[in-house]
Amino acid sequence: MSQCPYHHTTTAGAPVADNQNSLTAGPRGPVLLQDWQLLEKLAHQNRERIPERVVHAKGWGAHGTFTVTHDISRYTCAKIFDTVGKQTPLIARFSTVAGELGAADAERDVRGFALKFYTEQGNWDMVGNNTPVFFIRDPLKFPDFIHTQKRHPRTNVRSATAMWDFWSLSPESLHQVTMLMSDRGLPTDVRHINGYGSHTYSFWNKAGERFWVKFHFKTQQGHRHYTNREAAQVIGKTRESTQEDLYASIERGYYPRWTMYVQVMPEMQALNTPYNPFDLTKVWPHADYPLIEVGVFELNRNADNYFSEIEQVAMSPSNIVPGIGFSPDHVLQARIFSYADAHRYRIGTHYEALPVNAPQCPVHHYHKDGAMRFTPNMPHADAYYEPNSFGGPVADSQVTEPPLRLHADFADRFNHREDAGNNDFVQVTALFNLFNAKQKQRLYRNISEAMAGVAPFIIERQLALFDRVHPDYGNGVRQALADDKASAPQQAELESY
Ligand code: NDP
Ligand code: HEM
Repeated sequence: MSQCPYHHTTTAGAPVADNQNSLTAGPRGPVLLQDWQLLEKLAHQNRERIPERVVHAKGWGAHGTFTVTHDISRYTCAKIFDTVGKQTPLIARFSTVAGELGAADAERDVRGFALKFYTEQGNWDMVGNNTPVFFIRDPLKFPDFIHTQKRHPRTNVRSATAMWDFWSLSPESLHQVTMLMSDRGLPTDVRHINGYGSHTYSFWNKAGERFWVKFHFKTQQGHRHYTNREAAQVIGKTRESTQEDLYASIERGYYPRWTMYVQVMPEMQALNTPYNPFDLTKVWPHADYPLIEVGVFELNRNADNYFSEIEQVAMSPSNIVPGIGFSPDHVLQARIFSYADAHRYRIGTHYEALPVNAPQCPVHHYHKDGAMRFTPNMPHADAYYEPNSFGGPVADSQVTEPPLRLHADFADRFNHREDAGNNDFVQVTALFNLFNAKQKQRLYRNISEAMAGVAPFIIERQLALFDRVHPDYGNGVRQALADDKASAPQQAELESY
């Protein structure tokens, strides 16, 4: 047996003499309450779990590096982009949306695609998905939407009825539903997916000009996906297929890479596009706004400790840096609140001081105390409020964002369906037309299988939406439903309760 160079201690640092035998009254008598080492061990175990993420609970991640390859300084003054060749460390976390922490990886679901760039001006988090659009355009609908993806309160299984009921009553979901049910809705792993910021964000440059921007990360590994049949076989063998793939690929030195692009729209053009450029259910067509290459990122280091680095990573769209701003996208606006709130609940007040979340630049603020505070005082201990006379940190007017132009006179709860720019069908038709005949057949079959057990009136409502995209779409799904008599009887039974 090899000689261990260090001794086991308690959490208070005291050496432990025996970690295999509890303290008992005689060899067969009861355990003594004074065995505080046993108590500490059991108590610590009881605190090993933290709440899983309310969405995107199952995830996989790694560390990497972003490198600038093209100059975009005319659009943004963000220092991360200021020099070709500049490198910035990052951490990536990918995820499924609906599954819990122990869910199988090879499931049909949107993949989260979240990046934390440790820039010299603080952390920039790009919390996107592998799809450029989303199911809803109004954040008021998000908790209801997520409830339809999670377990039914009575049956405690996921409900196809709830999903299609919600989708068929929310035609803005059609674009994302079509992507989800297409080949790319079930990727083999995360090395073979694109990432999209999805929202419109903004860039601002040194001259104070604002541009609207969309972020794209295209896989250099190509796209790979499973059919439902293949995925069922994979899950039969392993529930951790994505974790295994990403970890092994990095351990073997096959570092996955993505090319970063942006689409850029001058500020005032947003008033003239035929589609609402701030509607999260829309893309900007490439022909209108071509992809501009920016750089490349590579994942090249696995986490040493999954829990502390991947489970505890705290991504938030509110983490932006000077040169990058928000947009009026309603869903983005809600996300600016939601994530940091979730982190305080899930991880704790000082989640941003954890090594994986800590910026890799100096941090000076006036927040005070709170559970588990361990950070030191300001360089001068008397400077703990502002204004002060003791050399505390002061704001830097050099990084003032240009004012946001508004185009509204009054506030109201506007019906988003009355905005012609929010048309729910035009872009889905463009997507549908991209698919070849075989891709369309698989789309129809995937939808039909996903509708197993759903009441006919809900299916009819959804088919009417597919008809409005393209008659072939509705008819294709009708035919697949007719062919697919063998829909899961157990599921049907649960749905009928
Ligand atoms: P283009 O022909 O210029 O681009 C088509 C895009 O579709 C490519 O980005 C391609 O990604 C992507 N794509 C191909 N198959 C799928 C799929 N099954 N699921 C999701 N994306 C897929 O078209 P337009 O820009 O005019 O857009 C046409 C339609 O393409 C849009 O309505 C939208 O549905 C979809 N799309 C558009 C994007 C955009 O930002 N404009 C981004 C992604 C999708 P890749 O290059 O990696 O193969
Ligand atoms: C995770 C809220 C829409 C991508 C989360 C979490 C919350 C949340 C609370 C868990 C955070 C945590 O505990 O760490 C919301 C709300 C939304 C919304 C309120 C809309 C109103 C979106 C959209 C995208 C997205 C549109 C993609 C474009 C992600 C990703 C994660 C996540 C990738 C996982 C981040 C990680 O890996 O840690 N979301 N979300 N979400 N969300 Fe959203």
